[in-house]
Amino acid sequence: MEDRFGHRISYLRVSITDRCNERCTYCMPHELQEWLPRADVLTYEETLRLIRVATDLGVSKVRITGGEPLTRRDVLSLFEMLRSVDGLDDLGLSTNGTLLARRTASGLTMAEALRAVRVNSVNISLDTLDPEVYARTTGRDFLPQALAGIDAAMAAGFDQIKLNCVLMRGRNENQFVPLVEFAAARNLILRFIELMPVSTGDVLHENSFLPVAEARRALESVYGPLIPEPAFRTNGPSTYYKIPGRNQRIGFIGAMSNLHFCESCNKLRLTCDGKLRPCLGSYLEFDIMKVMRAGATDAELKRFFLDVVERKPEQHDFRENYQPGRMMVAIGG
Ligand SMILES: C[S@@+](CC[C@H](N)C(=O)[O-])C[C@H]1O[C@@H](n2cnc3c(N)ncnc32)[C@H](O)[C@@H]1O
Ligand code: SF4
Repeated sequence: MEDRFGHRISYLRVSITDRCNERCTYCMPHELQEWLPRADVLTYEETLRLIRVATDLGVSKVRITGGEPLTRRDVLSLFEMLRSVDGLDDLGLSTNGTLLARRTASGLTMAEALRAVRVNSVNISLDTLDPEVYARTTGRDFLPQALAGIDAAMAAGFDQIKLNCVLMRGRNENQFVPLVEFAAARNLILRFIELMPVSTGDVLHENSFLPVAEARRALESVYGPLIPEPAFRTNGPSTYYKIPGRNQRIGFIGAMSNLHFCESCNKLRLTCDGKLRPCLGSYLEFDIMKVMRAGATDAELKRFFLDVVERKPEQHDFRENYQPGRMMVAIGG
């Protein structure tokens, strides 16, 4: 699948729930959240069918996200079902990590169980190592669980584990170096992500925004000039650098400040309520659940995907339109 601007679509990010056991200020509003009714959420069978259609159209990488995907009941059965999908070479998960160390019915940790059903990469959110800042940011006191989850993921032997840190001025600047050291000690890739205006949370104002260039300068004042690694890519929009004198990679996701950010976009998103989104940073979404439930054939669903790709914008409109209001928890980050 290729759009009007030459973006080749090979990556589908699939949100399987809008629910979460945390309440990150940049992702979810604090007020009591109304969850989607169960009937409005794609079943695993429906999700599987849409992923099959996407892989028939050339998608080779799928990342399961949410909300917190590991809060959905019987989530391992979805991964089990995905094993049978031809052409799916890369199956990843985005998680806050808090449930990865939990024991599943089989006695394995959730991380081990995921590894056993072919999940090869895991992205784990970690904005701070300070328990108080963690609790203030996520609304929950779960730092020990998140750290145990990272240990469990390492023990499970995934091909790749990345830590994601959202940059927030006035909240976690003093954590950048501790996080780099934490990642170095575990040989994990750490990525710093610019705050995007996709929620109604209180942290989403211009004073909290901290550009990746500033985070990079802060690290350079400690480690010396970072060494660009333009050839290293992980299928995403991150640009990578090495810390001088170390074999450690740090990624920066400049969703707001990098004007070339969208050029290499290879993604479509499927929301948990069955909307296909050609771009995270635009209001465009198309209800594929409705046509599927109305009896569409696979050929019609393929046509639907192609039509959505046709409408993919050249770039996101966050910069012109810094208007919080869309919730990441519902779109699937
Ligand atoms: C929506 S979460 C879903 C998966 C999982 N619950 C987690 O926290 O990793 C996916 C990613 O989106 C990021 N995210 C959420 N809201 C964001 C925002 N407003 N700006 C930038 N990143 C955001 C989170 O930090 C996380 O890394
Ligand atoms: S970022 Fe992830 S953990 Fe935080 S509220 Fe959103 S979905 Fe939940």
